[in-house]
Amino acid sequence: VGRALLGVGIVGLGAIGRVHAENLLHGVPGARLVRVADSSAGAREWVRRTRDVPASRSAADLLEDRAVDAVVIATPPATHPELVELAARADKAILCEKPLALDIGGAERAVSAAARADVPLQVGFHRRFDPDFRLAKARIQAGELGAVYSFFGSMRDATPPGPDPSWGAAQALIHDAACHDLDGARWLVGEIDELSTVGASVSSAALREAGQIDHAITVLRFASGALGSIDNGLASGYGFDCRCEIVGSEATIRLDHPFTANIEWLARGRSGFERTPTFLHRFARTYPIELEAFVQAVRSASEVPVTGEDGLAAVVLAVASQRSLETGASVRLSRTGQQHTIAPDQPRG
Ligand SMILES: NC(=O)c1ccc[n+]([C@@H]2O[C@H](COP(=O)([O-])OP(=O)(O)OC[C@H]3O[C@@H](n4cnc5c(N)ncnc54)[C@H](O)[C@@H]3O)[C@@H](O)[C@H]2O)c1
Repeated sequence: VGRALLGVGIVGLGAIGRVHAENLLHGVPGARLVRVADSSAGAREWVRRTRDVPASRSAADLLEDRAVDAVVIATPPATHPELVELAARADKAILCEKPLALDIGGAERAVSAAARADVPLQVGFHRRFDPDFRLAKARIQAGELGAVYSFFGSMRDATPPGPDPSWGAAQALIHDAACHDLDGARWLVGEIDELSTVGASVSSAALREAGQIDHAITVLRFASGALGSIDNGLASGYGFDCRCEIVGSEATIRLDHPFTANIEWLARGRSGFERTPTFLHRFARTYPIELEAFVQAVRSASEVPVTGEDGLAAVVLAVASQRSLETGASVRLSRTGQQHTIAPDQPRG
């Protein structure tokens, strides 16, 4: 990229697209927001009203703009593979929100489109940039935990959303939420050989009627022999909660305390902390770091820190998790090099 600042365009100005837009407008070193696209007029108005950035309806307009060097894809998951293919063909560097796709074929198409066009493809697993998670990763990598015995991950939202028919047969809780924990487990502990998931709709009649689950528990067996479990829910009531624990032979890491301030409130017989109400609060400081890492990798032509293959691996795990949910059987994974697949034979039934 020959210019002083990387020109970034954003496709999709919903919840997360607006976070990325705000962060770019507030200043991500080495980059500037040059264009946005959203198919809904309301979303385009949002940026027009607040800032002076060209906005259009279609991704195609944005991809034709020569001021756009890199594109952030922040549209719903089902649109990701096609938008990645279009962006790769237009020779743009790509930061695609997770999940990379809802099916393995879509994720594979996205990865090969980026490889064919020789453009960087980063996938939006922001936890990998969170200072707490990064410290945990650094300590594991430095061997401070010794042998890793077990992993626990949990993510809960306070209130379930209404049913969203755009998910089709895919379980949003698995593909949209658990994918973060599955990627986190893989990143922190290593490749996963086997998983099983049980799920239910226990809190929301509307989701139940739509065939969507609002709670799930997943059990993991890592290639290293370590075991893991993941707890996902949409109805904690008390706020957004993202936790992680890794037990090793020498030490244990517990990643908890999602507090918005270092203030403890003490009253007769009780004490408490202010908790993060949503993921936006918990990870507010993480998203700009994620963008900066992407921008730096693109500008220095080095490998992006979360690759298309990582995105594909997370899709394979999410598809396996949904299959286990539907069949009641555990699902085994297989890998050849960076190629992740669901093992064809399932003798454990
Ligand atoms: N990393 C994170 O923490 C995080 C958080 C939230 C969402 N996400 C991911 O980001 C993606 C978007 O989620 P969201 O909650 O912002 O969704 P959203 O529904 O709030 O916003 C999506 C936006 O995309 C627009 N859109 C849809 N199809 C389009 C198309 N073909 N061209 C242009 N615009 C289009 C819609 O009009 C809408 O404004 C999802 O994949 C989601 O999983 C990631």
